[in-house]
Amino acid sequence: MAVSPVRLNHAVLFVADVDRSVRFYTEVFGMQLVGREARLAGAFLRLPRSGNHHDLGLFGVAEAVPQPARSVGLYHLGWQLDTVDELVEMRRVLLDAGAYTGESSHGATKSIYGADPDGNQFELMWMLPRDQWGIYENAAVVERLDLAEEFETWSGLPTAGALVHDHPVGGVAQPHAVNPSKEN
Ligand SMILES: [Fe+2]
Repeated sequence: MAVSPVRLNHAVLFVADVDRSVRFYTEVFGMQLVGREARLAGAFLRLPRSGNHHDLGLFGVAEAVPQPARSVGLYHLGWQLDTVDELVEMRRVLLDAGAYTGESSHGATKSIYGADPDGNQFELMWMLPRDQWGIYENAAVVERLDLAEEFETWSGLPTAGALVHDHPVGGVAQPHAVNPSKEN
């Protein structure tokens, strides 16, 4: 008997310098600082469109020991973008921040990879509309990403589902359902 969680809700990373990491995730990912936890040298961050309380936690470790490459455990966190346009923009942002590490196509999802100041790896991905997965319904490949072609095909099409828009500071979140199917 299993109880299936709805989805992955948040991640928490150990980092060497919490301030440096907060700067990175606010400047590169546009996250908002929810609050700090002084006792744990911690900070909690929110993605403004997620509708979540916090999406990422950062806990400082006094005597930081970097993980050896390919050590067993977490490889990367995959963060979802809404449009392929955002994926193109994010590629530029990561290059500007010196955080870009690579890119690939997984068939139904298109990905850009990067690393934060501690070397924690992440992925920024955009997913094809559900009715366009086709042969990738039950397959995940690793192929070269042709971002220009993907942009040409899919520009402007949101696929992340329900996003929270226009979230005023101190106000009430306005849930906004985005129609994932394109009309043309
Ligand atoms: Fe991934």
